[in-house]
Amino acid sequence: MSTMTINGQSEPLPDDADALLVDVIRDRLGLTGTKLVCGSGVCGACTVLLDGEPVASCLLPALMAAGKSVTTIEGLGHEKLHPVQKAFMAHDGLQCGFCTPGFIVEAAAFCDHWRAAKGTAVPSRDDIAAALSGHLCRCGAYEGIFRAVADACAGRFDAGDVRAPRIEARDKVTGAARYTVDIRHDGQLEGVILRSSVAHAKITGLDLEPARAIAGVVAVVSLLGDDRVVRYVGAPIAAVAATNRSTALEAIAAIGVRREELPAVIGLDAARLPEAPVVFEKAARKYAGNVSEGGSSPAAWNGNVRGPTAAFSQGAKRARAWLSEAREARNPLLVDATFRVSTQSHACLEPHAAVARFDGDRLTVHVSTQAVYEVMEKIAKRYRLGHDKVRVIADHVGGGFGSKGSLGVETIAAIELARAAKAPVRVAFDREEELSVTGYRPAAEIKVAMLPSAEGNLKALSLTAHADTGAATSSTIAALARLIYPAEAKELADFDVISNLPPGAPFRGPGGPPMAFALEQAIDEAALRMRLDPIALRKRWDGDPNRQRLYEWAEGLEVWRNRKQAAAQSGRFRRGVGVASGYWLYLWQPGSSITLAIKGGRIVASTAAQDIGTGTRSVIANTVATEFGLEPKDVEVRIGDSNLPEGPGSGGSRVTASIVPPTLAAIAKLKAAIEKSAPRTPAAGSNAPWRELIATAPDLAVSAERPKDNRPAPGISSPLRQAGFMGMVFGWMMRTFNNIVVGAGVPSSVQVMEVEVDTLLGHVRVLNAFTGLAIGRLAAPQLAHSQAVGSVIQGIGYALYEARETDVRTGHVLSSGMDDYRIPGIADMPRCEVHFDEQGFDHVPGGGVGIGEVATIPTSPAIANAVRNAIGVRMTEIPIRPDRLIAALKGRAAA
Ligand code: FES
Ligand code: FES
Repeated sequence: MSTMTINGQSEPLPDDADALLVDVIRDRLGLTGTKLVCGSGVCGACTVLLDGEPVASCLLPALMAAGKSVTTIEGLGHEKLHPVQKAFMAHDGLQCGFCTPGFIVEAAAFCDHWRAAKGTAVPSRDDIAAALSGHLCRCGAYEGIFRAVADACAGRFDAGDVRAPRIEARDKVTGAARYTVDIRHDGQLEGVILRSSVAHAKITGLDLEPARAIAGVVAVVSLLGDDRVVRYVGAPIAAVAATNRSTALEAIAAIGVRREELPAVIGLDAARLPEAPVVFEKAARKYAGNVSEGGSSPAAWNGNVRGPTAAFSQGAKRARAWLSEAREARNPLLVDATFRVSTQSHACLEPHAAVARFDGDRLTVHVSTQAVYEVMEKIAKRYRLGHDKVRVIADHVGGGFGSKGSLGVETIAAIELARAAKAPVRVAFDREEELSVTGYRPAAEIKVAMLPSAEGNLKALSLTAHADTGAATSSTIAALARLIYPAEAKELADFDVISNLPPGAPFRGPGGPPMAFALEQAIDEAALRMRLDPIALRKRWDGDPNRQRLYEWAEGLEVWRNRKQAAAQSGRFRRGVGVASGYWLYLWQPGSSITLAIKGGRIVASTAAQDIGTGTRSVIANTVATEFGLEPKDVEVRIGDSNLPEGPGSGGSRVTASIVPPTLAAIAKLKAAIEKSAPRTPAAGSNAPWRELIATAPDLAVSAERPKDNRPAPGISSPLRQAGFMGMVFGWMMRTFNNIVVGAGVPSSVQVMEVEVDTLLGHVRVLNAFTGLAIGRLAAPQLAHSQAVGSVIQGIGYALYEARETDVRTGHVLSSGMDDYRIPGIADMPRCEVHFDEQGFDHVPGGGVGIGEVATIPTSPAIANAVRNAIGVRMTEIPIRPDRLIAALKGRAAA
């Protein structure tokens, strides 16, 4: 039998020539720091050192390691942390942490080679980007990674320990952080889902017995809905649990499926045709998914087109009449354009996964989820169990971006299989499932008409959005245009176009990026026609006090002051600068609670929230530490467990605003309790009185629930008030059906982008990104910075690269591997400057709100406006692919 030395220990290798090194490392040796993401050598998450050189262990047959030395992330940091690990911690070169082990292993090898050859010389950004170009981070932690690798190479982390702004950073840089896919119980089975291979069919027969007959198969269950209809390729049909994945895969292939194929229709254009086959007949509409974070407003259906939902219109008839008059009169100020945005996949690096286990009548489910508490409630309801019988755990979550907010089929399948098998079962999606059936930001066609008045005000605005929602409804794109740029009249209409594609899902600021891509380009176009500076026009038309301050900041940027007139350049490479605005609602979740306890002389904070990379632990630790004069590491934060006090879901940027206020309330109670029970008062003149009191306090605990906000300052109100009666109705619905309050004040962003366009090859490169954010006071400043930069790079992906491709004949998703679905890499990261404006939310206890959504909304239009500034051509469709740009340039030349 062959052996390898792994992290200094000799281990046998399987004789199986097909066994991959990554599987041996993770499954046989339990070294789960090494991650499996793409399985095709694209993302670098599985990187280990083989005789000191980085290799992708997902591509390497395990027997190739025979007689060699393998180092995984666990081995790298075993004795003492490598300087690269410390540097990643200090510079926050991580968010969810799922890509981090792979990055660190590669960066450590680079750093060691660099140091051997060049001493402490500092590598350039290009050197670092080249070294790490085989790695992908969906959270976009690239800016911190650049700084970390440069400083580690320069020897700045050779000695001493390190202060990390993210309190769980050490676990993430050493591979100790455990994600759902890493959970392994004794006797755990592997679950796999049989999915539909056709886009629309009625399943008339399902024979599970052949699968049950296969040795190693323990349970087989049906996942069909009552109507037994599958409406997209990849719809779940059945699931199998077996002793290993290959047996489970063999078993699902053995299941007998008889089906009656039904006519199918794929995509936005085909589904709108009057003769298109209907996806959801009236009785079946309840099976449709939901692409928004709020509830679903009632709307008419016409075949596959649902809508309009137009409750946020204001004087729609007037708007229509004025716009058509302007068209007839060929009013030169009228902006009339159609924009198209592509489908964006969440592409979380940790796939959707669940591990279910029954202990008697108690069910424990590890889920990669954005909402531990809510998923516990949904499981309890679905299976008619008491809350005390269900426990949902998500210690670490490898990204979500909106796609992991509900009770998913991976969790249902794991539970059903575990119940049938009477054994723990793990269901973890493979990359094809992850990029096909876990949701996406829908593509959309958005028609905009914008009419400035002769006096220079915004007279009329019309937005009509048709969203390509697949087997889902409730897109909200046009409606979001109500809460920015007030006009005399607005007509805002949203339509869902349903087809036999997998359902879309909420994605970071649902509806915001497509709305901004269209609206912010229309504003830019209006400014050109009115011969006004685009920021000056926004200042005139947009009265929001938060954005007014951001406009002042943006106007002062050197890159803005020095920008050239539109299309003033010639030559192959042309630079341009563009601006765009964005906003999101300030949301918080009533009932969010926290318990603060003293245990053994240490503060322990507990809440059933989760951390999907956004820094929940650090926000809580910082808040507590600041009030008690401690270091954040002195506070133990327990989250990710539904047995803890009810916490908020991570969606709609609501965690910070939901959890900081009760934390502050609990701190006040804890201080009183400590003082009351203190055996003695602190020494006179103590510079750490609370530290002394806490160290000697008996064990005790206090809890607090999210209090209401204070009265906001004059001029700050709920944006829904500005939207009139329907705004109030929307607010009531959010509160009643979603347990979410829309608060006063508007989280806002203004971004300025500088791009370089290669007019020969059609490439666009973002050189510099300036992002201004008004989200109030920052609970964890460095992590807020990381999120801001990560949002920008995700927006760059949306603007320039990302597009899901489908086969319009069959409904198969073609871009189902990470080699086909292009997300930004480290070399795509521009230099990024972040400006935080910390005013505007003093009425919120703690003074701050969330950042995740608002920071990504203006990126794509700011880039498109910069491209327009560079080449004089407006790109109306994203991603701005080279072929589209060249075609647009040629169209202009031809005209
Ligand atoms: S998992 Fe091996 S490179 Fe992506
Ligand atoms: S930190 Fe890189 S994928 Fe999340």
